[in-house]
Amino acid sequence: MANVLLGVTGCIAAYKAALILRELQEMGHDVQVVMTRHAAEFVGPITFEALSGRKVWMEMFGHATEGGIEHIEVARRSDLFLVAPATANVLAKFAAGVADDFLSTVQLSATCPIIVAPAMNVEMWRHPATQENLEKLKQRGVHIVYPESGYLACGVTGEGRLAEVNAIVEAVRSVLDRSTELAGRRFVVTAGPTCEEIDPVRFLTNRSSGKMGYALARRAVSRGASVILISGPTRLEPPAGVEFVPVRTAREMQQQVYRHFPDADVLIMAAAVGDYAVDANPQKIKRQETLTLSLKMTEDILAGLPPRDRQIVVGFAVESENMAENAVAKLRHKHLDLMVANDVAAFASDFNRVLLLSRDGNRTELDLMLKTEVAERILDEVAALVQARVGAPR
Ligand SMILES: Cc1cc2nc3c(=O)[nH]c(=O)nc-3n(C[C@H](O)[C@H](O)[C@H](O)COP(=O)(O)O)c2cc1C
Repeated sequence: MANVLLGVTGCIAAYKAALILRELQEMGHDVQVVMTRHAAEFVGPITFEALSGRKVWMEMFGHATEGGIEHIEVARRSDLFLVAPATANVLAKFAAGVADDFLSTVQLSATCPIIVAPAMNVEMWRHPATQENLEKLKQRGVHIVYPESGYLACGVTGEGRLAEVNAIVEAVRSVLDRSTELAGRRFVVTAGPTCEEIDPVRFLTNRSSGKMGYALARRAVSRGASVILISGPTRLEPPAGVEFVPVRTAREMQQQVYRHFPDADVLIMAAAVGDYAVDANPQKIKRQETLTLSLKMTEDILAGLPPRDRQIVVGFAVESENMAENAVAKLRHKHLDLMVANDVAAFASDFNRVLLLSRDGNRTELDLMLKTEVAERILDEVAALVQARVGAPR
């Protein structure tokens, strides 16, 4: 089955990692354990070595390299990295990108899905620093198995107890299932704003940050899809594993979408394509009392797509009023399979509250949540449509 890397960190619940290891093995997975030095204060590596039948990785230096750099090789070989239990310290290191021991260095070089199952004292759990670190990790797509409330080793009752072994193992199952769900599927995702030149120094654009489209592209890759991300200018790093196509104007965005659409199984139009372009002035326009710009409507990319029966097309609608009605009208008019309607307030934010409307009349109203989580929910819908329309993974 899968190669699971199990990270164990320094807390009382470290012994439960042995139970998790056994469960993962029962599911047929090959488990490699990596520990922090502090974890070894609680449970010796020998326990994990005996159970896993493999050497436990803990030290950054001092072992003979067998033709590779171990922390990179270990990360590369893994299909999933589960850190259970995860200390407050390790969450902070992951959030900040600290790589000062074997486990944290592996995390930084891992491109596979990561799950953390935190365990700590209730005050440590509630501390704003811990909560902020978790938010950061969530935004990056790290899966979190939240701790439970209960009697803690420190003698108080509250949140912070490691989630049940079953819940952790279930999270592994679901993340691994998802990681191949879209294997062989070709996605085209658009993101960000477009810019229309007014003159050599000025341009017309909008407030789109690209966060929604980038989150969709990243999550589609982690579900196994091959993804072309066509993006207007943003401050974001292209997600690992995507084919990145930078564009600037609505016209360039249109050309790239039409170029890549014929080979795509799914097109997700999350970009905020400008509705208007300007006839660019070759020279810088001089400062003047009043300046009138003549705007020309850009072409509607979705409306100009060729007729399709197999391909799935997802559109986004940003409305400041009558969101649902306007979105339903667009869904029909543009022959979309799924419409994601969101509020203008979502622009540039990390959060979004959306309404999902499907062609067959289904309406799902999601709560306010991180864009990374919204991306997962959208992809759940898309994966179901792909399955129904095109069949099982190739
Ligand atoms: C008895 C004992 C229990 C501890 N339990 C926890 C815990 O449950 N969660 C936690 O985040 N830290 C706990 N700590 C503190 C961590 O061990 C400490 O922050 C350490 O630096 C973590 O190192 P690591 O993250 O590299 O494993 C505990 C410390 C001791 C001495």
